[in-house]
Amino acid sequence: MKPALSVGIAGLGTVGAGVVRLLRDNATPIAARAGRSIEVVAVSARDRKRDRGVALEGVRWHDDPVALVADAAVDVVVELIGGAEGAAYDVVMAALAAGKPVVTANKALIATRGSAIAAFPNASLRFEAAVAGGIPVIKTLREGLAADRIASVSGIFNGTCNYILSRMRAEKLDFATVLADAQARGYAEADPSFDIDGVDTAHKLAILAAIAFGRQVDFASVHVEGIRGVNALDIAFAEELGYRIKLLGIARATAAGIETRVHPAMVPLTSPLAQVDGVNNAVVIQGDPVGQIVLQGRGAGAGPTASAVVADLIDLARNRAAPLLGVETGSLQACASVPMAVHQGAYFLRLMVADQPGVIADVTAVLRDHSISLESMLQHGRSPGDAVAVVLVTHVTHEAAMAAALARLAALAAVREPPALIRIETA
Ligand code: NDP
Ligand code: HSE
Repeated sequence: MKPALSVGIAGLGTVGAGVVRLLRDNATPIAARAGRSIEVVAVSARDRKRDRGVALEGVRWHDDPVALVADAAVDVVVELIGGAEGAAYDVVMAALAAGKPVVTANKALIATRGSAIAAFPNASLRFEAAVAGGIPVIKTLREGLAADRIASVSGIFNGTCNYILSRMRAEKLDFATVLADAQARGYAEADPSFDIDGVDTAHKLAILAAIAFGRQVDFASVHVEGIRGVNALDIAFAEELGYRIKLLGIARATAAGIETRVHPAMVPLTSPLAQVDGVNNAVVIQGDPVGQIVLQGRGAGAGPTASAVVADLIDLARNRAAPLLGVETGSLQACASVPMAVHQGAYFLRLMVADQPGVIADVTAVLRDHSISLESMLQHGRSPGDAVAVVLVTHVTHEAAMAAALARLAALAAVREPPALIRIETA
């Protein structure tokens, strides 16, 4: 057997400790698949005294993660600190400058630091764990579907949001309670607003779109909305109408260019995405000639994420390599990104209106003025003088028309709260 691959791990939190544990627990099958053993020789974190639940005897400790990169015993640097700036960025740049291979789970860095990474065209940088935790979606798109033209990549890419939405629906729990639980389980980002405001999903979507469509990562063009506005009332109406609410990331090739959007969406109960609950992620890929591929699995947490990190280490041990985004940098295409205003789709709209005669006529007049056609309308019970929920489901219409109508509806005297709008995804 070849000499061991010596690994230095910067960041020993949820994922870092998970990687140390997995390399120890599955050492025998990992060595067989890698053709050599993979050994952790050095680590770095902030608090040397903290118990991480893993044995670190004989492993060199570096207070400074950049010093770990310079450690002559380290062949490969595993960056599991997180964040597009600060220590994580310094570690990755130092390793690339030193010509050491890097494995990372850091989607924020991959999605937003493309130009810094591009300064190292021959860099060996692997990031399977950055998208959808344990689901091998990067390898699937970049290698397994290398012969296909990709029409779309969509799905549930944030375990924290899916966990929150699932438990809010199934157990009628409130948002803050479930978020705290997701944080305690190690699913959430260091700043959980990245999860709930859709930014983490957008980082992942930007990476997937780059690989799927052979272009540079274009995070700035992703339309991003999170789940803070999703409430129990809309979750209940969705059930009644035969939908589930999910935070989706969608990248699709259109005649005008590539559409990339992240927002809560209602998906029919018959969709493969509707039944994906808890911390699970799912990725739906439409390719030609492969057709539809659906991948599902745990999208966050120590074990699943470590699984993806170690798979990258095994590839390194075997010298298996593919270009960063699937094609050589010089072959990346300049694909236009399509603005959200030109999107077309169906919409769920909930208005809290004064329960009085003439309100529906005013509402439908606004929709008529913007050429928005209704599929159905729903109102339960009566509360004269009070606000009552009126739900409208539209046929396919233009996003720009919907936005203009929404502004007028919000300004009607009878509309008592800001309208709730959730897009409906049937494709
Ligand atoms: P944690 O917050 O649990 O761990 C971060 C680690 O980095 C800690 O060990 C911390 O040290 C260390 N650290 C922070 N700053 C420094 C510094 N300046 N110098 C040295 N070490 C430092 O994060 P996660 O493990 O959850 O996430 C790590 C990465 O993996 C992130 O990029 C995240 O987005 C990504 N990821 C996470 C997933 C998950 O489920 N958690 C899933 C997929 C990807 P200390 O422990 O001493 O505080
Ligand atoms: N915070 C992320 C999530 C971790 O909840 O999906 C996995 O990338």
